[in-house]
Amino acid sequence: MTDVSSQGPQPGDERPVLTNRQGHPVYDNQNQRTVGARGPATLENYQFLEKISHFDRERIPERVVHARGTTSYGYFEAYGKWGDDDISRYTRAKLFQRAGKRTPVAVRFSTVIGGRDSSECARDPRGFAVKFYTEDGNWDLVGNNLAVFFIRDAIKFPDVIHALKPDPVTFRQDPNRIFDFMSQTPECMHMLVNLFSPRGIPADYRHMQGFGVNTYKWCNDRGETRLVKYTWAPKQGVRSMTEADAARVQASDLGHATKDLREAIERGDYPEWELRVQMMSDDEHAELDWDPLDDTKTWPEQDFPPKPVGRMVLDRNVKDQFAENEQASFGTGVLVDGLDFSDDKMLVGRTFSYSDTQRYRVGPNYLQLPVNQAKTEVRTNQRDGYMAYAVDSDSDRDSDREGVNAHVNYEPSLHGGLREGQYPTTDDEGPELSGRLTRKRIPRTNDYEQAGQRFRLMEEWERTDLIHNFIAQLAQCERDVQERMVWHLLLVEDELGNRVGEGLGIDAAAVAHLEPLPYQTLTSAERERLAHLG
Ligand code: HEM
Repeated sequence: MTDVSSQGPQPGDERPVLTNRQGHPVYDNQNQRTVGARGPATLENYQFLEKISHFDRERIPERVVHARGTTSYGYFEAYGKWGDDDISRYTRAKLFQRAGKRTPVAVRFSTVIGGRDSSECARDPRGFAVKFYTEDGNWDLVGNNLAVFFIRDAIKFPDVIHALKPDPVTFRQDPNRIFDFMSQTPECMHMLVNLFSPRGIPADYRHMQGFGVNTYKWCNDRGETRLVKYTWAPKQGVRSMTEADAARVQASDLGHATKDLREAIERGDYPEWELRVQMMSDDEHAELDWDPLDDTKTWPEQDFPPKPVGRMVLDRNVKDQFAENEQASFGTGVLVDGLDFSDDKMLVGRTFSYSDTQRYRVGPNYLQLPVNQAKTEVRTNQRDGYMAYAVDSDSDRDSDREGVNAHVNYEPSLHGGLREGQYPTTDDEGPELSGRLTRKRIPRTNDYEQAGQRFRLMEEWERTDLIHNFIAQLAQCERDVQERMVWHLLLVEDELGNRVGEGLGIDAAAVAHLEPLPYQTLTSAERERLAHLG
């Protein structure tokens, strides 16, 4: 029956006809079916119910962190070398081997704490997540722009994030809560000195560095492993904003960084980063006064020079934000042959967390979505679950193959199905581990030294900006939190502690006598510095 009030097709309109998801053409998209023009709606109105009930389910849970972000595509081009050396000496990962070899990538940049529509001008670390669609399956390098992190053990992640997120009662981000936590967590000082410096508000996504942050391993075809850290250096240079710049930008646009990236790609001004890799032998490095598995530390460039291994260019925007950005799923567990984990306690915890949250946030079959799917053939015996889109090992194709029986979705079998592959090397049994099961912090915590070095490397205007930002935030905190923070900052660097103390009306001598935190062991040099101040 034709609804006389429908707008209906206009003569000469050649656009494709709207359908519902059952493939039925939609003749009237303006009016529900009712009894008479003014009458009640009927429940069998399939088209209306489908449309509204799908709309009701349009949102999925946003990421618990990094909710605001944007995805672009491009490629990684290998140099075939680690600096001047043949790269195959260090890793057998295929994507790095041949100069000029290109691997498609998807990259998602993000902020951390705000919700999906929050400001991109926030003082907040930026996420820098890269998915390499390699010939051996996917590799995800999930990093940030600040080189280090707040904490070194994954068990503290929910606490640091709760402190940084809005107050559960007032729903305001509250410096008193943030610095309450940080003042009790000395390992976060290095991250704080970065975050409250101008680097804490990157000008946009194109002008920032990226870092893998955690320590990984490379493995060559002799089975030899080395510890590595990754850095992305932007060809565009690094640019940051002060609080005043950020206030100006966000007054008119909360999404300036997404806009900037999309528009640059649209006009063919493709952003580019060089991937550099630092390396050290795979052992404890007792000669260092910090631990190579500690993600609150950087590796000094003079001792561990970052050497280029390839470049990445972003040249394509997503066509749909939901399908390709909201549902994109990255994780630290996603490695390919030739790359490996280290025992970094953050990395291990992260590796559980990402796929766990994605099964909840996107659904158990999130790896079947085009943006997450490997570009190689995927053949598993995993089946079913909500929204299973296809059988991973395409049964039509497999049934044509000798020895593959589509009825066999288990392994081993006498009757076909999938078989195990062969390890790429024979010498891949991994390191020998021994030790008592325990809960201990790592021995070489050294929480202040690199934070102090970072401060001393800053130009005068950066130091002033950092001190101004600390004072502005700490002024909103209670006295005990302020005093403990000034105590930590004195241990980072006298000038930093003194100038922040001055701004808060706290005399360095008055806080220098505070006892270290119960779980903290100061070095004799640190104790002497405090005694000198007191
Ligand atoms: C996103 C957990 C540390 C970088 C996420 C998500 C979770 C998470 C649950 C949301 C993922 C999703 O919904 O798809 C953790 C845990 C950590 C940790 C438990 C510590 C134990 C870090 C560190 C970095 C980092 C140290 C930086 C090196 C990122 C990035 C994203 C992210 C870039 C966004 C990925 C995207 O764009 O989809 N993290 N994280 N995280 N995390 Fe972490």
